[in-house]
Amino acid sequence: MNQQVRSQPIPFIDIVAQRQRLGRSIDEAVSRVLAHCQFINGPEVTALEAALAKFSGARHVIACASGTDALLMVLMAKQLGPGDAVLCPSFTFCATGEAVALTGATPVFVDVDEATFNMDAASLERGIATAKRLGLKPKAAIPVDLFGQSADHDAVGAIAAAEGLFVLDDAAQGFGASYKGRRLGTFGLATATSFFPAKPLGCFGDGGAIFTDDDELAESLRSIRVHGQGSDKYDNVRLGLTARLDTMQAAILIEKLGIFEDEIAARNEVAERYTRGLGNVVTVPRLAEGCTSVWAQYTIRLPKGANRDGFAAALKAQGIPTAIYYPKSMHQQTAYRDFPVADGGLLVSERLSDDVISLPMHAYLDEPTQARIIAAVRGAISA
Ligand SMILES: Cc1ncc(COP(=O)(O)O)c(C=O)c1O
Repeated sequence: MNQQVRSQPIPFIDIVAQRQRLGRSIDEAVSRVLAHCQFINGPEVTALEAALAKFSGARHVIACASGTDALLMVLMAKQLGPGDAVLCPSFTFCATGEAVALTGATPVFVDVDEATFNMDAASLERGIATAKRLGLKPKAAIPVDLFGQSADHDAVGAIAAAEGLFVLDDAAQGFGASYKGRRLGTFGLATATSFFPAKPLGCFGDGGAIFTDDDELAESLRSIRVHGQGSDKYDNVRLGLTARLDTMQAAILIEKLGIFEDEIAARNEVAERYTRGLGNVVTVPRLAEGCTSVWAQYTIRLPKGANRDGFAAALKAQGIPTAIYYPKSMHQQTAYRDFPVADGGLLVSERLSDDVISLPMHAYLDEPTQARIIAAVRGAISA
């Protein structure tokens, strides 16, 4: 490999390659919307909801404007507010706890499992006890399917059922993955996902969706997404939002959903190649029994004492981008540090924030490019 090839920049997520693969089909889908001009609640929105319901197995799908809105709308529909507690993992993107705080309820942060990075059941139990001790009413738990891997839905579901909490699954990164043979979208009361462009199933802007089998909840959500509309949009029966998915984004997503299964398989091959190439030099991600992943991220942990910044700089010098998800856990963020954390502390979340780093991951990462990344990682570790 000559020097020029060796240092050519590699994209972290290759949206361009996917765009080229879909080519005219996307252009034609967008042209159809431009022709009918139903930019809001056009026929593609209903068609996408039906396709997502079929894909996930959920009875109702409510498309909406973002993953954050998807989370918020469910909490609004359940009328959460001051005095209520919602248990969230701390090692996640801020939107998980943000949606809770926006309703006036209190996010109570719990720790994650060291191997899977997902909500730790024992910490969830401690977090519920913490919430009660503080005089809060625990109402819900939000497990996150972090980096694409399904959370332990049986363990979370059992604790939630025993405590009378509802479960809202944050599958913003995990939509398309499954747990014990069932696709995400069918666990707990409702599931929220994001179609942000970098997500495994992303659109060309912001977008999201909610999945539920609950008829009453689905009806409330359809109302909330249009300002709490009743019999029509000038009949307002509850507080709501402007949280619709644009027709154009729905048209794009229909095309992308058509190749999603194939992309999930490709992402899994990429993950397997990383694991084979790196498993003996860094801590590679581990799939728990019964869980699959859509590999929103391929996140490794560096050996003890390794200099993460130096490692990232060594890769960058070779044209290989990396990212740190998340350099601070939620309870360490300025905006969230005054919210309660589960008794016993969140030591795993804090450790992960110190030593994780994510490598380029997408369905179009070819073997020679990946071999370059693997060689660079191995070289940086041994240096
Ligand atoms: C775990 C998680 N939850 C929620 C969201 C929010 O999604 P959106 O950016 O579409 O609002 C994200 C987005 O990155 C996420 O990663």
